[in-house]
Amino acid sequence: MFGSPTDRRTHAARAVVTGAGSGIGRAFAVELARRGGTVICADIDADRARETVALIEQGGAGSAHAVFCDVSRTEDIDALADLAEDHFGAPTSLMINNAGVGIGGRPVGEIGLEDWQWALGINLWGMVYGSEKFLPQLRRSGRAGLVNVASTAAFSAAPSMAAYNVGKAGVLALSETIAAESGGSDLAVTVLCPTFVKTNVAVDGRIAGGASQLAQTVMRWTGMSPEKVARTTLDAHDRGRLYVVPQPDARLIWAAKRHLPRTYTAGLGVLNRALPALDRLTSPTTPEPTRTGV
Ligand SMILES: NC(=O)c1ccc[n+]([C@@H]2O[C@H](COP(=O)([O-])OP(=O)(O)OC[C@H]3O[C@@H](n4cnc5c(N)ncnc54)[C@H](O)[C@@H]3O)[C@@H](O)[C@H]2O)c1
Repeated sequence: MFGSPTDRRTHAARAVVTGAGSGIGRAFAVELARRGGTVICADIDADRARETVALIEQGGAGSAHAVFCDVSRTEDIDALADLAEDHFGAPTSLMINNAGVGIGGRPVGEIGLEDWQWALGINLWGMVYGSEKFLPQLRRSGRAGLVNVASTAAFSAAPSMAAYNVGKAGVLALSETIAAESGGSDLAVTVLCPTFVKTNVAVDGRIAGGASQLAQTVMRWTGMSPEKVARTTLDAHDRGRLYVVPQPDARLIWAAKRHLPRTYTAGLGVLNRALPALDRLTSPTTPEPTRTGV
C-alpha cells in the first residue's frame, strides 16, 4: 500500500525521463512534476523536450529542464547523468528509461541488418546504457527507483516485429535481473509492458507502410491514453510492483503465452497467414510497403 506522499518514490522525485518529448515519456514527466518533482526531460528532439517543459511550467507544479540526448550514444548518457546530478545538487532518485522507436512490417530475413542495429541501438542499448550509468547514482541516492519501458512485445512474439520484440524482451530481462540484484535494498524496479498507447510511436518509426497504417488505426481505437499509463505505472511503482501490464489484452496475451505457449504460437502463425488474405479481400489494391518517417 501507499505510505505518506513523502515516502513515495514518485513524489518530490529528482527524476530523469528519456524520450520525454512525446507520448508516454511526456506524460511521465508532466505527472512527476505534478507530484512535486524536479524533472530532467531528455530527448533526441530538443524542441519537443522544451515543449514538455513549457507544459510543466504552465501546470505550475514541480520544475523541469530540457536536455538533448540520443540514448543510443554512451557519451550522451554519460553527459546526461553528470548534468542531472549537477542540476539536482544530489544523485538522481528516479530514472525512467522510456525512449524507444517503432519498427515492424517485415519478417526476419527481410528486415536488414541496418534496421536491426538502429532499433536495438535505441530500444535495447539505450536502456542498457541508462541502467548501467544511472544505477550507481540511484544506489547513492538512498530510497530510489528505476522504471524501464518495455512492451507486451517483450513476450507476445508478434510476427513481422522481431527487431522490436527482441529489444523489448531484452529490456524485460534486464529489469528482472536488476530487481533480483536489488532485492532487500532501497532501490525499487518496475518494468512497463503495455499493448497500444495513443502516441507517435507508429508514425515516427520505421514501420512498413501497410503495417504502420494498421498500427495507427488499432492504436486510435484501442489505445490507452499515455497519461493513464503514466499514472498507473507510477502508482504501481510506489506500491513496489515489478511488472506493470496495464491493459486487459496485454494480461490475456501474457497468460496465454505462459500457460499455452505452443497453442499460442501456432495460433499466431495461422493469424499471420490469414491476415494478408483478409487484406486482399477488403482492399481493391494492396499498396507497396513504404517507410514512414526515417
Ligand atoms: N505507444 C505504444 O503503443 C507503446 C506500446 C508499448 C511500448 N511502448 C514504448 O513506450 C516508449 C515511449 O514511446 P511512445 O509510444 O511514447 O512513442 P513516441 O514516439 O510518442 O515518443 C518517443 C520519444 O522518444 C524520443 N526518441 C526517439 N529516439 C530517441 C533516442 N535515440 N534518444 C532519445 N530520445 C529518442 C522521440 O523523439 C519521442 O519524443 C517506447 O520505449 C516504446 O517502445 C509504446
